[in-house]
Amino acid sequence: MNKKNTPVWGTRIKKKTTTAFEKISSSINIDKRLYKEDIFASIAHVEMLNRQKIINFKIKNKIIWGLKKIQNQIVKKNYVFDYKDEDIHMSIEKKLFELIGDDAGFIHTARSRNDQVLVDFKLWLLKSNEQLIKILDQTNKNILKIAEKNIYTIMPGFTHLKNAQPISFAHYILAYIEMFNRDKKRLNNNFSNLKENPLGSGAISGTSFNIDRSYTTKKLGFKIPTGNSIDTVSDRDFVLDFLFASAVCAMHISRLAEEFIIWNSDAFRLITLNDKIVTGSSIMPQKKNPDPLEYLRGKVGSSYGNLFSMLTILKGLPLSYFKDLQDDKKIVFEAYDNLIDSLKVLNEVLKNFTVNRNEMLNLANKGYITSTDLADYFVKNLNYSFRKSYQISAKIVNYCEKNKKNLSDLSLKEIKKIEPKVNDDIIKVFDLKSSINSKKSYGGTSFENIKKMIKKYKNA
Ligand code: ARG
Repeated sequence: MNKKNTPVWGTRIKKKTTTAFEKISSSINIDKRLYKEDIFASIAHVEMLNRQKIINFKIKNKIIWGLKKIQNQIVKKNYVFDYKDEDIHMSIEKKLFELIGDDAGFIHTARSRNDQVLVDFKLWLLKSNEQLIKILDQTNKNILKIAEKNIYTIMPGFTHLKNAQPISFAHYILAYIEMFNRDKKRLNNNFSNLKENPLGSGAISGTSFNIDRSYTTKKLGFKIPTGNSIDTVSDRDFVLDFLFASAVCAMHISRLAEEFIIWNSDAFRLITLNDKIVTGSSIMPQKKNPDPLEYLRGKVGSSYGNLFSMLTILKGLPLSYFKDLQDDKKIVFEAYDNLIDSLKVLNEVLKNFTVNRNEMLNLANKGYITSTDLADYFVKNLNYSFRKSYQISAKIVNYCEKNKKNLSDLSLKEIKKIEPKVNDDIIKVFDLKSSINSKKSYGGTSFENIKKMIKKYKNA
């Protein structure tokens, strides 16, 4: 739109856009979030135009003055985002006309909205990736605190949700640090594509003006200019990268949420959620429901949806820009907002639950959890093959089951009936602590390993 309130393309298109389309095609309520990046990039653009003698010094200064004023108005909430202005880019340009007159028209020399939008979007994503990495660091810190307090907290490790082998609760919770570190890595990997500067690609074919793309690249904090103008204006791979990284992170959160829901249940009681993170029932007075965790478990659904929306929009889309692409911002903002909220909620959860050590230990004493240790004992002490040892251990478990005993209740005499060659040091095999501490292989659950890993994570 120009100051006469007709779109800038109004000289060519004489009829007013139909109402329903005008409404859905306007994206200003979504892309107004890009205003800072848009102004920042426009300033770099006009500075470059002036350095290259494409616009003069006076006009450059006038434009920059106007853009700064607009930024000020937006920050102070003195700015009207009119849906009729289509998007934030046209809105700012129109405002610039109002503020400085026809010289505003020089701002769009040697650029198109196609490359303009991409610069803003990439700059926004660079900042937002960093924001996510920061909050993930906070999450890891919270996890480390829990781990440090629970090195000697013994619990059953599960496979198939059946008691598998004894582990330390610290070892369990530190598994999530590994996941969140991979999430950070994925977000970090996004930087290399994000740091390619689209500005200067124009609408599709570049520009005939003598622009300096390395100047804007440096000025805007990019690394290199993009290499093909057609690819640049149609590429949304960087959007997919972001959405994928977000979806995986949301999935990790949902796994922890589900686990905590199970553990907090009346059947398990391995942890208890603090009153700050539960909700009541409208009818059942006794209830304390783990709603925040259910929110976290469910939110991954939107995140996958965001990724699939974008993948589907891009499927079969010919080169180069099409309006189909406009929804990219809405999708990314939603994914980002949900993930930030989820991480904040997760951090609250991590600070507001208690570990029920006795319940964990009680559960670890069930389900013949040391039978692998028993098999290992035969391998180490009797020189049997692991398969043979497994069978003897299984026989002993069968005996326990039949006689309603735990492995640790067995006398040496009872064991000898099944495997006569054992001696009395076999009894310590059933001790949960010594089982845990025997897992000294790198990455295993032994207490020393855990301490080393905590140190490593702390120094990372
Ligand atoms: N708001 C639009 C978008 O983000 C701007 C692109 C304009 N380009 C065009 N050729 N209409 O997709």
